[in-house]
Amino acid sequence: MSNSIFRTDIQKLFPELPIEGAIFDLDGVLTDTSELHYLAWKKLADEEMIDFSRKDNEALRGIPRRESLLLILKNKEVSEIQIQEMMARKNKNYVESISTLTSKDLLPGAQKLLESFKNGGIKIALGSASKNARSVINNLGIAHFFDAVADGESVVHQKPAPDLFLYAAKRIGVQPSKCVVFEDAAAGIDAAQAAGMWAIGIGPQTRFSTAHIICKNLRGLTLKKISFLLTRVSGT
Ligand code: BG6
Ligand code: MG
Repeated sequence: MSNSIFRTDIQKLFPELPIEGAIFDLDGVLTDTSELHYLAWKKLADEEMIDFSRKDNEALRGIPRRESLLLILKNKEVSEIQIQEMMARKNKNYVESISTLTSKDLLPGAQKLLESFKNGGIKIALGSASKNARSVINNLGIAHFFDAVADGESVVHQKPAPDLFLYAAKRIGVQPSKCVVFEDAAAGIDAAQAAGMWAIGIGPQTRFSTAHIICKNLRGLTLKKISFLLTRVSGT
């Protein structure tokens, strides 16, 4: 099926297609690297004899490296030099763990959804707070899907600020109101909504209070399905 035929087909079905761009968070949406972030933080916390559980880790979803460390340290007094050393130590653990990622580590439905957007002529951007995002998409073999990459180096104010997603939308040349964001973190959903974008929460319902749509995972999602759901949400 050629790109243009698919696009025409979609436009016939949804003359008011609500989206022209899709922005994907990475960790916890396209691949389970949120677990690898957790394991790397857990190792550091154990070395520092700080209590840190999977439940505590939930608050770190989508949160940048430095802010994550400060949350783990709670009120523990540390110098800037110690902060830098601990961030480097965690990152070393994390970088080691992502070195073996392959396309097999894509979460179910991720490849199909990216293909469906690409074939439908939708612009695709990555919107991840991680400074390791490029290595991860390269290792997963999905870098070619992205028309732009917004990552931990792209903006000063990360999620829940809207800046990263607005930067991504600008890079793909799509108005924010025509972008849909896929996010596993409440902070990311807040960022998408602050940016004036459609926000789809990926994960358990209890994690999101304000997403336009919530899906347990990406399994079975296509451009057609997303367009249908968004058209219903927007009432057009
Ligand atoms: C986000 C993750 O995508 O990236 C966070 O959800 C992580 O857990 C953040 O802290 C920053 O990642 P990195 O790779 O720059 O330390
Ligand atoms: Mg995430």
